[in-house]
Amino acid sequence: MKVAIFGGSFNPVHNDHIKIANRLVEELSLDKLFIVPTFVAPHKQGEEVISGEHRLQMLKIAFEGCDKIEVCDYELKKGGISYSYQTVEHFKHTLSLEKLYFIVGSDMLENFPTWKYPERILKSSSLVLVERKNGESCDEQSILKINSLFNASVTRVKVFGETVSSTKIRVYQALGLPLSNLVPSAVESYILNNSLYKQNELYSYVERALPQKRRVHVAGVILTATSLAKKLGADVKKAEISALLHDIAKYENPDNFSDFKLPSETPEDIVHQYLGEYIARIKLGVLDEDVLTAIKYHTTGRPQMSLLEKIIYVADIIEPSRMFLGVEQLREEIKKDFFQGFKICLEEIVDFLLKSGKEVYPLTLDALNYYK
Ligand SMILES: [Fe+2]
Ligand SMILES: [Fe+2]
Repeated sequence: MKVAIFGGSFNPVHNDHIKIANRLVEELSLDKLFIVPTFVAPHKQGEEVISGEHRLQMLKIAFEGCDKIEVCDYELKKGGISYSYQTVEHFKHTLSLEKLYFIVGSDMLENFPTWKYPERILKSSSLVLVERKNGESCDEQSILKINSLFNASVTRVKVFGETVSSTKIRVYQALGLPLSNLVPSAVESYILNNSLYKQNELYSYVERALPQKRRVHVAGVILTATSLAKKLGADVKKAEISALLHDIAKYENPDNFSDFKLPSETPEDIVHQYLGEYIARIKLGVLDEDVLTAIKYHTTGRPQMSLLEKIIYVADIIEPSRMFLGVEQLREEIKKDFFQGFKICLEEIVDFLLKSGKEVYPLTLDALNYYK
């Protein structure tokens, strides 16, 4: 009997998990694929994870009717930190198995040698890497490392196409955006009926203040900014809140705020950065100066920007729903070298403004001269 274990937090399960699971069954000619939600993933402690019961129910709904796929509550029942070596040994001993596969993603494979008792995992199972992009060099290096450290081979299964992440689903749901292309409809109903992944008052405010299209943009800025913050060692929570609130004044009229003072000769496109900072501070009670400043200069930039300001400025330009000509190139530059990419973003924006006959705001010119 050929069996594989596919573990993860599944917070929540989404269309990509389903695609991967079906592909694994087919590609490895499995008799059974066990989906094993973790109780607390050792590498994810501290991240917001909803109760195991909800995650389990959504998995059961998502894989209902799949003969060869079974959702297993072993780690949830066991409780405590879920260590893969224990799960693998449990399956190996409980079922009499000819072959046991253990599924890992690229990010997991990289850290595999640092897991608890990796040699015990490899004694009871063989690793299967789910590859999402062709020939990623970190995958090659990780495979070579596992080969040389443990004398073990890694089977590779390619699952290409658009990727979905659980993080995206949580942000979409918190902003009241539809999940229909991200999770099966029964899972979407479950999430809505149980009001899962609803966040704080700030999210509710943005949901009320902005139309759907703008919230899709905001979700993109949150995802891009938090991922940049993680990579660059900036404060991820501040990046999230700044991104969430950066466009809150986009549909507000400054005349409705009697105490608000707009810098003189501010073009219409730029008003919302100043008004946004005002609303965040006065109406929403945001006290964090770093966050307020990141909102205040997100459109224009300025000289001597903090790392957080740069992250919000860049994320606003390159987030996934932006479609303008040249955006793909900017994303590549940012991926290669954030600080160099930031300068290129500034230059491109000024170039675009000049070409379209618009005036360049003095603060933006100052920023350009400062960073050139
Ligand atoms: Fe904006
Ligand atoms: Fe924006």
